[in-house]
Amino acid sequence: MFARNASRAFVAPSASRLFSSSSARQTKVTVLGAGGGIGQPLSLLLKTDPLVSNLSLYDIRGAQGVAADVSHVDTASEVNGYPMENLDEALDGTKVVVIPAGVPRKPGMTRDDLFNTNASIVRDLAAAVARVAPTANILVISNPVNSTVPIVAATLDKAGVFDPARLFGVTTLDVVRASRFLSAITGASPADCNVPVVGGHSGPTIVPLLSQVPQGKSLQGESYDKLVHRIQFGGDEVVKAKDGAGSATLSMAYAGAKFTNSLLRGLAGEKGVVTPTFVKSPLFADKGIDFFSSLVELGVNGVEKIHPLGPLSASEEKLLEACLPELKKNIEKGKAFVA
Ligand code: NAI
Repeated sequence: MFARNASRAFVAPSASRLFSSSSARQTKVTVLGAGGGIGQPLSLLLKTDPLVSNLSLYDIRGAQGVAADVSHVDTASEVNGYPMENLDEALDGTKVVVIPAGVPRKPGMTRDDLFNTNASIVRDLAAAVARVAPTANILVISNPVNSTVPIVAATLDKAGVFDPARLFGVTTLDVVRASRFLSAITGASPADCNVPVVGGHSGPTIVPLLSQVPQGKSLQGESYDKLVHRIQFGGDEVVKAKDGAGSATLSMAYAGAKFTNSLLRGLAGEKGVVTPTFVKSPLFADKGIDFFSSLVELGVNGVEKIHPLGPLSASEEKLLEACLPELKKNIEKGKAFVA
């Protein structure tokens, strides 16, 4: 944990668990949408990650202010902020691009309702990454993830630089929520409630595999149904509570920083870094679904190994049945947008 910087960096107790680092390799990370509700706390958390050597913050508004602020945090990384017209400079030489750019939900909206606005934002940013940093790893947070990831893939493909091992839809918030909510009803530590959450990232496409965790195995009936519903629709709790001011930003920033750290550890050669993420996947390709989230091992080339789902309970089979057609529709919508 914080192997190299332990004596210098201030690390809140939860953050020390968030970022474990066994490697000295350091990397430039770019955040596109750094001025937003997610972008700001995500930038702060990335500033505390010892695996980030250079933090590049870009937004159509406000990134320079965020960069000036975050740059005073006493960790070693360099921080630079870029205005709208300097996207290429922000991306130059970057190894990892995290994209939380785009509009969030308001009460009553589904993630798919964001498609019209966010699809073109994500497509244009992906085209810039293809041009300036074609070998970068791209982490997509912007919703609807089930469609924005295929949009990025198709855009990179058009530019002739798509590498499926380097594109990730960030579904970590679903995993974080599943862990927290399961811990809340069982009394177990969240650290012992690592629920694989597979499928996609919206309502019924979110499939928690509670049967694969000792703490979740015995849940049945109403308590099982309630927990599954809470994991699938946890985002709505936040949207409702924020009452028009947006969706999850702080927990999402935490989840985004956590996934970025996992990827950086994998890229640096650490073995056994396995986490769910939405990637181009062979698991349901025979059903015409070529993006899917399952446990993925991260390594020096990005995606190292896509794990199969493993044994499912009868309830999970049903959840999967409901997930697949919806996910397929979302993926096709993304592809059609670029075609
Ligand atoms: P926000 O509106 O607070 O921030 C978005 C930022 O993107 C703004 O600063 C805006 O200026 C910037 N932006 C817009 N167009 C841009 C462009 N072309 N280039 C660079 N920056 C641009 O929204 P918030 O709350 O930060 O959410 C961002 C996205 O993340 C939304 O689409 C939201 O639905 C999604 N999200 C995803 C989650 C996930 O689990 N993957 C969870 C929560 C939100």
